[in-house]
Amino acid sequence: RMDAATTLVIFGATGDLASRLLLPALGQLLASEPDRRVNLIGAGTEDWSDAALKKVVRTAFAASDAEAAADRVDISYQQTDITKAADLKRLLKGLKGQVALYFAVPPAVTAAACEALTPEMLPEGVMLAMEKPFGTDEEGARELNARIAALVPEQQVFRVDHFLGKSTTLNLLGARFANRLLEPNWSAESIDSVTIVYDEKLGLEGRAGYYDHAGALVDMIQSHLLQVLAVVAMEQPATLDQADFREATSAVLRATRIWDDDPAASSRRARYTAGSVDGVEKPSYIDEPGVDPARNTETLAEATFEVRNARWAGVPFTLRSGKALGNPGREVVVHFKAVRHVPVGLRGSAAGAVLRLSLGPDQISLELNLNGADDPFVLERATLSADLGPGELLAYAEVLSGILDADPMLSVRGDAAEQCWRILEPVLAAWAGDEVPLEEYAAGSRGPEHWPYRR
Ligand code: BG6
Repeated sequence: RMDAATTLVIFGATGDLASRLLLPALGQLLASEPDRRVNLIGAGTEDWSDAALKKVVRTAFAASDAEAAADRVDISYQQTDITKAADLKRLLKGLKGQVALYFAVPPAVTAAACEALTPEMLPEGVMLAMEKPFGTDEEGARELNARIAALVPEQQVFRVDHFLGKSTTLNLLGARFANRLLEPNWSAESIDSVTIVYDEKLGLEGRAGYYDHAGALVDMIQSHLLQVLAVVAMEQPATLDQADFREATSAVLRATRIWDDDPAASSRRARYTAGSVDGVEKPSYIDEPGVDPARNTETLAEATFEVRNARWAGVPFTLRSGKALGNPGREVVVHFKAVRHVPVGLRGSAAGAVLRLSLGPDQISLELNLNGADDPFVLERATLSADLGPGELLAYAEVLSGILDADPMLSVRGDAAEQCWRILEPVLAAWAGDEVPLEEYAAGSRGPEHWPYRR
């Protein structure tokens, strides 16, 4: 497969996602695998030339030190309205060999293109890759899944979630399944709570048109962080074959509910007011261009879930993500229970161990209780830690390599995409019904004072 060229068609090739994330990742992937061959066809509604796209590809490849790899790619551009059947037909006609269509366009455009496509237009074995959000609610996701299923089999569908390609998410597999120390203790027997946090310094970055409709809950928790939860909590798959792996993560999502079935008490939301992040002044979220304050969009969301199965019942999984935060945490934190008894005579706190996997820069650490240096009968906390360095590949390169190799292990299966909406719908309803106050935090702070997460 490495020798034959794959034709990668990027819909939305003139857009921000392509130039900022996809193309640099493609460059990195090609640079790291000299045998890989890709023909790139860019499509978009703009009137671009082949040369214009080539220039964008070169610049994007250069961003990941891979400019030379651009010479190995055959690049062309076709002006196309992918919501029109005639345009799609013209674009796809005659494409042979392994073909992947990447929808780097807003979900409504992807949905319209899926309506316009017919099985006859599609090359044999074509892979369809699409960006989040997948649908806008459970029913919408189900309809889109049905539409896609009429076009190609599920194994050829790639619902992209680049958090599944993040090296920390992948590190979880090794840490958890390859260590007898952790594996038998990875359950409610020994674990007290789990926190998955992805706070960012970034603000809106000109994405109000999308973000002001999505908000932090949908932008980050609905997609990315629930996928990370699924990897943390899954049963051990016998193999890392896509079928075993994805069934294990889907099973977790099917068992996941908002804590206590009480979305109002188990979720919080807030948005930022003016402040400074790293010395850069940010306006209030509601004063950002393109924001409609009446939409009450949150820029920080937190919700606690329970995985209702024998392994996890009773263990809170708290997921949180926000924008414009100072000193942001980005980590999976596993809080172990304390031992049942400490010998009388050993003093000090014997709090449970804490395992932390940071989501970039990759680091893993384990906090334990050890005998103190000063007085050996007084316990002290010690931290063992290892830097894991950056993952070999960017998360998007990992995702792209799966698509080009026709291996959907790191892509979200259709039923899982529906489950993620199902899990969050009670929360979305409680927020829409104003059962949860929209709080405020100053940009550059750590969020509202009274809700620091359990670090
Ligand atoms: C994207 C969200 O999917 O993930 C962004 O839409 C967010 O809002 C981003 O900033 C975070 O991922 P990363 O890997 O770019 O830090």
